[in-house]
Amino acid sequence: MSVPAAPGDATRAAAERLLRRCDELAAVSASPDGIERVHLSAEHARVNAVAAGWLREAGLATWQDAAGNQWGRLEGAEPGLPALVLGSHLDTVPDAGRYDGILGVVTAIEVAARLAPHRAQLPFAVEVVAFGDEEGTRFGTALLGSRAVAGTWLDGWWDVADAAGTTLREASTAFGLDPAAIADAARRPEDLVGYLELHIEQGPHLEAAGRALGVVTSIAGARRFAGRVVGEARHAGGTPYAKRRDALVGAGQVVVALERLAVETGGIATVGRLQAHPGGVNVVPGLVEFSLDVRAEHDATRDDLVARIEAYARETCAARGLGFELQETHRAPGVYCDAGLTESVVAGIAATGDDDPVQLFSRAGHDAMAVAAITPVAMLFVRCEDGISHHPAEAVTLDDVGLGLDALEAAVRDLARRRSAAR
Ligand code: GLV
Ligand code: MN
Ligand code: MN
Repeated sequence: MSVPAAPGDATRAAAERLLRRCDELAAVSASPDGIERVHLSAEHARVNAVAAGWLREAGLATWQDAAGNQWGRLEGAEPGLPALVLGSHLDTVPDAGRYDGILGVVTAIEVAARLAPHRAQLPFAVEVVAFGDEEGTRFGTALLGSRAVAGTWLDGWWDVADAAGTTLREASTAFGLDPAAIADAARRPEDLVGYLELHIEQGPHLEAAGRALGVVTSIAGARRFAGRVVGEARHAGGTPYAKRRDALVGAGQVVVALERLAVETGGIATVGRLQAHPGGVNVVPGLVEFSLDVRAEHDATRDDLVARIEAYARETCAARGLGFELQETHRAPGVYCDAGLTESVVAGIAATGDDDPVQLFSRAGHDAMAVAAITPVAMLFVRCEDGISHHPAEAVTLDDVGLGLDALEAAVRDLARRRSAAR
């Protein structure tokens, strides 16, 4: 095994540009105190326009699709060939870092720019996509952009509302999209060669292994829920304990139990949002609304964990005279990366000097898992400092970004060689 020392000077210069571009996109935020860019917002429109400018500069034809995803296309040896798609997402969680999704998009654009002078040798077109919603921050339903592209859009989503009560249908229309045209965003499998996504790892494994890059074997499928614990709001002082039906105490008990249930089952469960109502300092909480995110390497493990959480919560709440409700808002099946496409990712990483790359299962969700419904997918991870993500402290090094860029380009070239040889 040999592990790369550092990328060359030209790559380091390109990596500097990629980091500058991540900084430029980070400045497009709805919040003055941090990064927040949600689906179908004014910020979404602005980053699409910025990305479209970079795509055109790289020599690609551009368009925004019916779901608000930004695309670019570089024709191959002849016009109209099926496309290899490179990309990731430009939306963020609240108070986000600047690389989750974004690094994959800017790197894909740079790879396309590198390939543009050699397009006559490409046995496929190269497309770049910047998906508009991977996180699900605004509507709770994740992967809206990539699921529209995969043709797995569900009509029930149109009436899902954000925190301000704006429905997805209203937000799409205000963004200038036509909800009736959503099917136009779907791509046909026969027009695609595959999908390659570069993403920061969002975990500590590459750092622990001392490697800049890793290859993804599979992606965990998440289920998300909107939960409610229903009790009775009453006077905080006047109500004796025997009469209290405190929804927050019941919800708290469930939240504390999640960790034990998850560890016992081998999955992961998180309550990221929780609100007590009516929210008076001297009122027993009568209602708690919360989010629940559950994932595992295998869907059966995840579903087992959901069942255990639900059983525990119902029993615990019933014993306290509380109601418990759980409504599913998102479900994505776990996905295995394609073996053939993954060979090209391994070859791409090997071209940077690491000929036995670390293989990882992704605990984070990615657009690749939606796109897998229509075309083979593979993923390349870039080490991030301390494994931290979904936090402003997200950090990558210049050298790692350069190695990721070289590896993604080499993966595309490897795939091109294989396909040309097979013709
Ligand atoms: C996306 O970042 C997810 O894994 O939830
Ligand atoms: Mn994310
Ligand atoms: Mn992401």
